[in-house]
Amino acid sequence: MNVLVATEKPFAAEAVEGIRRAVEQGGHTLSLLEKYTSKAQLLAAVADADALIVRSDKVDAEVIAAAPQLKIIVRAGAGYDNVDLAAASERGIVVENTPGQNSNAVAELVFGMLIQAMRNNYDGTTGRELRGKRIGTHAFGQVARQVARIAHGLGMTISTYSPYNLAEEFRCAGVEKAPTLDDLYANSDVVSIHIPFKPETEHLIGYELVSKMPKNGILVNTARKEVIDEAGLMQALEERPDLKYLSDLRPADAEEWEAKFGNRVFFTPKKMGAQTAEANINAGIAAARQIVSFFADGDQTFKVN
Ligand code: 3PG
Repeated sequence: MNVLVATEKPFAAEAVEGIRRAVEQGGHTLSLLEKYTSKAQLLAAVADADALIVRSDKVDAEVIAAAPQLKIIVRAGAGYDNVDLAAASERGIVVENTPGQNSNAVAELVFGMLIQAMRNNYDGTTGRELRGKRIGTHAFGQVARQVARIAHGLGMTISTYSPYNLAEEFRCAGVEKAPTLDDLYANSDVVSIHIPFKPETEHLIGYELVSKMPKNGILVNTARKEVIDEAGLMQALEERPDLKYLSDLRPADAEEWEAKFGNRVFFTPKKMGAQTAEANINAGIAAARQIVSFFADGDQTFKVN
């Protein structure tokens, strides 16, 4: 089978070598399309692909239609909002993700951005510490669990809000469950967002929630930009000069935000959360192995469609 890795933002070289080894040991061949700059390149590359590994690359109905042999798509990572699940299912194509494989990298970035903000971007002025502060994770998936683990080491108190019944997970992780989402925002010095983007979460976080945050509150987004109501968040930041917003998802009009709010906002130039060698190796090789076992045994453990 021809396994295509199509990544606009490529994996580290050692991850690609690991993927190659896993694919070839499984008796398949690897094709690579890295750093592509146009959709036409992706459409041409998928023409003879039996399996596809992507990151945040958009796999829409047009890409799927251009891939007549395609049997499986693995999103090497957590969020699969970039894949048109309905178009894939219609063709009987299995879609999988690799949950947890890049979560530590994303969680570490949360604290990297936080410490930088608490120390006023290292501008020589007096900053503040995370110890003793309250962090709330909006949702409690794989990344939030790593955030909780690290927050314990920093001496923070941790609460979470999840619509799911995860009482045992909360207990094991030593986190308090906030009774409502409003409570989570109202009682957290830092809120770290870890919800997926889906129709019910679109623009969920805006003026109402953010305005509830206590004095000097910091909102951190390493999830998706679509979950933010940007106009509402901007209004909250305008009314509350004590609030900060740190995001791994650069808004389209980032310059306007930076001009308005200065160092109260911080945006990575490109989504950097999962961009570590370790995360690339973990997620990339997991994706390759999942494809090998799908073709060998019909394994669909991580199917999401
Ligand atoms: C994910 O959903 O796994 C993260 O957002 C990482 O995305 P990336 O692979 O494009 O860096």
